[in-house]
Amino acid sequence: MAIIDGKALAQKMQAELAEKTAKLKEKSGQTPGLVVILVGENPASQVYVRNKERSAIAAGFRSEVIRVSDSITQEELLFLIGRYNQDPAWNGILVQLPLPAHIDEEAVLLAIDPEKDVDGFHPTNMGRLWSGHPVMIPCTPAGIMEMLREYNVELESKRAVVIGRSNIVGKPMAQLLLAKNATVTLTHSRTHHLAEIAKQADILIVAIGRGHFVTKDFVKEGAVVIDVGMNRDENGKLIGDVKFDEVAEIASLITPVPGGVGPMTITMLMEQTYQAFKRSLES
Ligand code: GUN
Repeated sequence: MAIIDGKALAQKMQAELAEKTAKLKEKSGQTPGLVVILVGENPASQVYVRNKERSAIAAGFRSEVIRVSDSITQEELLFLIGRYNQDPAWNGILVQLPLPAHIDEEAVLLAIDPEKDVDGFHPTNMGRLWSGHPVMIPCTPAGIMEMLREYNVELESKRAVVIGRSNIVGKPMAQLLLAKNATVTLTHSRTHHLAEIAKQADILIVAIGRGHFVTKDFVKEGAVVIDVGMNRDENGKLIGDVKFDEVAEIASLITPVPGGVGPMTITMLMEQTYQAFKRSLES
């Protein structure tokens, strides 16, 4: 068994990104810009946003975090997004989720210019992904694909099982694996005989959001196991969706939590901002 070191890969990619960004800045005389809009004071969101800002600055981007009160109206938020859509100085726009209940998330995601939608959540970008012409891809599954590539995991004709069907992870993950000619099964909380299905997987991706849900009974000997989970146990410790200790004994490759998928997500966000910048120079 080997452990996939997401942190090391993320650091390597960040260093490469800073290098290519510096080159393109010099050549074009312009700087990539990422704006993050944070509504309210959700503590987890504040941490995520701070990390995104730090990472953008490390890459050599212009970074702005717009912090607005959770009493902002939907109309005001849409107006704010519209301003950044119009401004060519910004290549990436990200609205941190979750949003307060009085704001329609769908309407907000729809308002972001798809060419600046570095999260890949706009229906246009989801449609592009599902029709086989991806432009912006949700960052967590994009990071997982990078990890599988780095560790030379063969996908062609392999059996992949994804547990969890969210728009952010499960659905785009299934599509990315399908595009690499894996045979993909997308499962979820209502799937019958889940362990039995998961046990057929050569590659098992777990994004169900339940701490230690996947035990060794879900895993075939030699499988590659990717854990997207970020849960807290009763002592407040960060744990994945996979029971790491027992699954690590039978998996050929496995991601830890923390230090697996998490660091890759932000790196892919920066990579997509860079790509959006590059495309803006070409258009
Ligand atoms: N909240 C939790 N994860 C994410 C993410 O990847 N993007 C955004 N915008 N909000 C999030």
